[in-house]
Amino acid sequence: MPESVRTNFVLRSDSTAATAQIGRVLGALLAPGDVLLLTGDLGAGKTHLTQGIAAGLGITDAVTSPTFNLELAYESGRLPLYHFDLYRLEDEDQLEQLDFFGTIEAGGATVVEWGDRFAAVERLATVVIEIALLSGESEDARELRLRALDERGDELLTGLRARLVMERARDYVAD
Ligand SMILES: Nc1ncnc2c1ncn2[C@@H]1O[C@H](COP(=O)(O)OP(=O)(O)O)[C@@H](O)[C@H]1O
Ligand SMILES: [Mg+2]
Repeated sequence: MPESVRTNFVLRSDSTAATAQIGRVLGALLAPGDVLLLTGDLGAGKTHLTQGIAAGLGITDAVTSPTFNLELAYESGRLPLYHFDLYRLEDEDQLEQLDFFGTIEAGGATVVEWGDRFAAVERLATVVIEIALLSGESEDARELRLRALDERGDELLTGLRARLVMERARDYVAD
């Protein structure tokens, strides 16, 4: 499929709970080797989305920001989750020291905050999610712009969209 028609869509979130729920649905769909890039300013909600993804993988540990550690791994779920935050990484060469390339192939799913800073990371990613604050709206309003970067990304985002539609449909069914 040509790059130009890769799956892409925008989701709106009006609360941390809504962002976490999108993450949970996405986390339930992840497979070993999937690499997701999260972009957007500090405080956009990348770590909150990751916490939802972890919950969707069945991870029971508290997921915190790896800003200082650069990488944290969680093994208590259906798959390991490798959570990188490359905000403080200065040079692409340091990815080797972090064992970034070995880690993404170690049988889990990987989420990378600020991964768009490095071309070598972007090349290996399957989906990019950009989180943006909506100016002029409520403090908690966010837009999540999702885009597939390869065929697996298309599959993942198509599945995510279908499941979110189903969840919303359920909201309209009377008890
Ligand atoms: N809809 C929302 N989705 C995610 N976070 C939100 C939302 N609304 C408000 N927030 C707040 O924004 C901040 C996001 O922090 P965090 O997830 O650490 O961001 P990042 O990892 O992008 O720097 C938190 O203080 C959270 O409470
Ligand atoms: Mg963060």
